Amino acid sequence: MPRVSYVNGYYQRHEDALVHVEDRGYQFADGVYEVCAVLGGVLHDLDGHWDRLLRSLNNLDIDLPMSKAAFTVVLKQMIAKNRLKEGIVYYQITRGVASRDHALGFRPRPSLVVTAKRVGFKDKVMLARHGVGVIMAPDMRWARCDIKSVALLPNILVKEVARRRQAFEAWMVRGGVVTEGSLSNSWIVDEHGVLRTHPLGSQILGGITRQTLCRLAQDLGLSFEERAFTVEEAKSAREAFLSSSSSFVMPVTEIDGVQIGSGLPGEITAQLSAAYWDYVEGQTGVNHWR
Ligand code: PDD
Repeated sequence: MPRVSYVNGYYQRHEDALVHVEDRGYQFADGVYEVCAVLGGVLHDLDGHWDRLLRSLNNLDIDLPMSKAAFTVVLKQMIAKNRLKEGIVYYQITRGVASRDHALGFRPRPSLVVTAKRVGFKDKVMLARHGVGVIMAPDMRWARCDIKSVALLPNILVKEVARRRQAFEAWMVRGGVVTEGSLSNSWIVDEHGVLRTHPLGSQILGGITRQTLCRLAQDLGLSFEERAFTVEEAKSAREAFLSSSSSFVMPVTEIDGVQIGSGLPGEITAQLSAAYWDYVEGQTGVNHWR
C-alpha cells in the first residue's frame, strides 16, 4: 500500500506530495510543527500537542488553517490511509506561499502538511531496558526555544555529532547548564536523590511528555524540582533520562563516556517509565513496558 501524505487539502502519494518553491517554510523556516505518537492506531496526547501548536502559531502570528475538529479528521484520515498502527504523525504549518520578501504586507494562506511514518516503539522500549549514551554539545539556538519552530539547524547539527559519536542524543549546554536534548527534554536524579529538569521558559521547549512526567512525579510523591542542572551535576547524577513523544522515558547511562550511577537504568527512571506507560495505555490501550 503506497504511503500517503497530506498537502493543503489533498491526500497524495508520498512521492508526489510537494509544496511550492516560495513556501516561506522552505525559504525562511517560517513555520511550526508537532510530532504525535500513534499507538494501537490511536493518537496519543493530541490535546496537549494541539494546545502547544496554537501557542506556537500565536507567538509567530500565523493563522490557523482549520478548526480542531477538521484537523482531527485529517489526522485520523492519515492514520487510516497509511494503515498506521504504530508510529508518528508529523504536521507542519507554515506562513504560506509569497514572493520572497522578509516582511509581508499581507497574510498568505498558511500551508498545512501532514506525514505519517511507521515506528516500532517496542524496539525503543527494548533500548530503554539497557539505557543509552548522550554527549554534551553547545546550545547554539535562538532566544525563543519555547516555540516549536521548524528552524532546527542547531538541533540537527548537534544530533549529527551525536550520531557520529554513536550516542543516542546530544544534550545542549548554555553557560554550563544543560538546557535540553536536540529533540527531547533532559532529566537527572541528582546525588541527593532529587529528580530535576530545566524549568519552563524561553530556553527550552515545554515537552508534552515532560508535562505528563512532572504530574506523575508529583503523584508518585517523588522529590522533584523544576531546577536546571550543570554538566558536572549531570555527570555525577545517580540517574539520568530523556523524554519525548517518540522516545517516551529513555534512561541515559552514559554522558560523554562517563558512566551514570551503576551504568544501568535507575530505579526512579523505571518507576516513571512504568507510570508513563500506564498513562499511555489509558489513552491508547497499548503498554509496551509490561
Ligand atoms: N521533538 N525538546 C525539543 C527541542 C524537541 O524537539 C522535543 C520534541 C522535545 C520533547 O517534546 P515532546 O515531549 O512534546 O515530544 C523537547 C520531536 C519529537 C521532534 O522534533 O521530532
